[in-house]
Amino acid sequence: MDLGLEGKIALVTGASRGIGRAIVGKLAEEGADVMLVARNISNLETACEEIRESTGRRAEYCSADLSGTDGVATAFEALRSAYGRIDILVNNAGDTQSGDFLVLDDEAWDSGFALKFFGYVRMSRALWPMLKESRGSVINIVGTGALTPGPHFAIGGSVNAAVTNFSKALANLGLVDDVNVNVVHPGTVAETDRYETLLARNAEAQGLERDEAERRSLVSQGIRRFALPADVATVAAFLASPLARHVQGTQSIIDGGSTKGL
Ligand SMILES: NC(=O)c1ccc[n+]([C@@H]2O[C@H](COP(=O)([O-])OP(=O)(O)OC[C@H]3O[C@@H](n4cnc5c(N)ncnc54)[C@H](OP(=O)(O)O)[C@@H]3O)[C@@H](O)[C@H]2O)c1
Repeated sequence: MDLGLEGKIALVTGASRGIGRAIVGKLAEEGADVMLVARNISNLETACEEIRESTGRRAEYCSADLSGTDGVATAFEALRSAYGRIDILVNNAGDTQSGDFLVLDDEAWDSGFALKFFGYVRMSRALWPMLKESRGSVINIVGTGALTPGPHFAIGGSVNAAVTNFSKALANLGLVDDVNVNVVHPGTVAETDRYETLLARNAEAQGLERDEAERRSLVSQGIRRFALPADVATVAAFLASPLARHVQGTQSIIDGGSTKGL
């Protein structure tokens, strides 16, 4: 199926690794020219080289810390000077801390909201006029923690719920400005650094080896396997495409059936 992404311009945050790397690669594979944003320059350079080589598309990067206003301004300026326009914004950079509610301090809560909530809000606000001009789309990568809270994921769940609410509000503005806004909720996504970090904390809390904690997590979720970054990227690319123009303000859950409620 041709997604109709040839020649589109896409900016993906947290694009150097994990889910963001898979999304930016998929968009380029489908014909988009891309801007990758994250902090580590060496990872960004490697990702850009791989994308140029495998797709032949233009891939630029911007090193910026999106947990503050300066980083968002830097990313906006990099996009504006490299491409001068944008069709697709994928907000994906997030790094909330999990663990014991009584141990996680204000700093952990602040940094969780600073990057994933305010980072998404600020990037959307900065790029909205250009997205309005191109009748573009915003895809917010959120997480099933928004739907099913857990005591050890209180920060991530709260941030994700806030991003989901914000996304619906933005989708309503998008009806006026002709910009599509949708949310993708991944469940547990293996082969990401975040997965390994969360798994290690989980294993430690339960006094288990990594592999045993992983096995129990799969069993407790009652699913066939964990998601892979490519599972999320495929859905994000579809939602970013003109084929999904009538899909507005929705939440797509990519968790293999782990979420049991509605
Ligand atoms: N993995 C999962 O199981 C899972 C499940 C549900 C939802 N999610 C969500 O999916 C998104 C991506 O997760 P992931 O697993 O792919 O994470 P990851 O493997 O840890 O990658 C995170 C990406 O964000 C960038 N990043 C981190 N802090 C940043 C900052 N302050 N400013 C700019 N960029 C920053 C990282 O690059 P640098 O470190 O170089 O900046 C990297 O490119 C997150 O929002 C996460 O909450 C993940």
